Amino acid sequence: MNIAIITGASSGMGREFALQLDRCLGKTDELWLLARSKDSLEELATSLQTKARVIAIDLTKETALKQFEEVLAIQNPKITVLVNCAGIGSHKPFARQSREEIESMVQLNIVALTRMTMICLPYMKKGSKLLQFSSGAAFVPQQAFAVYAASKAYVYSLSRALEQELKGRGITVTAVCPGPVNTPFLAHAYEDAGGFGLLKRLTMAETSCVVKKAIDDCKNGRSVSLCGLPIRLLYLVTQGVQNVLLRCFRP
Ligand SMILES: NC(=O)c1ccc[n+]([C@@H]2O[C@H](COP(=O)([O-])OP(=O)(O)OC[C@H]3O[C@@H](n4cnc5c(N)ncnc54)[C@H](OP(=O)(O)O)[C@@H]3O)[C@@H](O)[C@H]2O)c1
Repeated sequence: MNIAIITGASSGMGREFALQLDRCLGKTDELWLLARSKDSLEELATSLQTKARVIAIDLTKETALKQFEEVLAIQNPKITVLVNCAGIGSHKPFARQSREEIESMVQLNIVALTRMTMICLPYMKKGSKLLQFSSGAAFVPQQAFAVYAASKAYVYSLSRALEQELKGRGITVTAVCPGPVNTPFLAHAYEDAGGFGLLKRLTMAETSCVVKKAIDDCKNGRSVSLCGLPIRLLYLVTQGVQNVLLRCFRP
């Protein structure tokens, strides 16, 4: 059985991924939709043409991840696409953040994404696609978004290295690095800051554009997906030299 897995499928870009992949998945039998909100996932599943499996899971819980690992071992599918989209952010100075806020960002954005990648990789074969949700925040350390930006820098670095490691197996890895996107994420992240600034509003991208670009980029084997001029410019300025080094440096 061929399956595509999307984490964070109950909302925002994960949900949009399910809707867009539904229209363009070739040899994939089932879409597996993961998030905590079972009702939202079930509602989404009913709107899809591809058979969908709803998996209500808190990805920050190791026991839940182990159960998911066991399901995969029993089903033994081929994972054609894995979209690691689930992520959270909290915008406020580091010293004012609670231990829970910091730990939940690290646990979901870093640990869960890494565990999902580890768990799913054995089932990914030649032609499989891995999409990792990073962010434009990965490119520059950000005041008052310190842990979030650092967590996304981790995802970006992991993705770029895995891209090199998995080339030989014919698996493509794409780090999706959007700037601000019109999803519930920003309202949650900036809840305590009383909203976000003009620059974010002016450079805000639409969910459908970011996801369409990510799907096109992964199909074309691109290692980084950037949607819109502002984020492309930021990438060029901050990552240009690193990209040259990455191509030249072989340990
Ligand atoms: N929106 C932006 O401006 C922006 C910009 C750059 C990058 N990103 C990144 O893009 C990704 C998608 O974000 P979005 O904008 O689509 O946000 P969103 O609409 O808030 O969606 C976040 C998703 O993560 C899931 N999630 C949260 N905690 C979870 C947990 N403990 N276990 C399992 N799932 C969990 C949520 O589902 P449940 O609550 O149902 O669990 C939801 O489906 C994130 O990684 C984010 O960091 C967003």
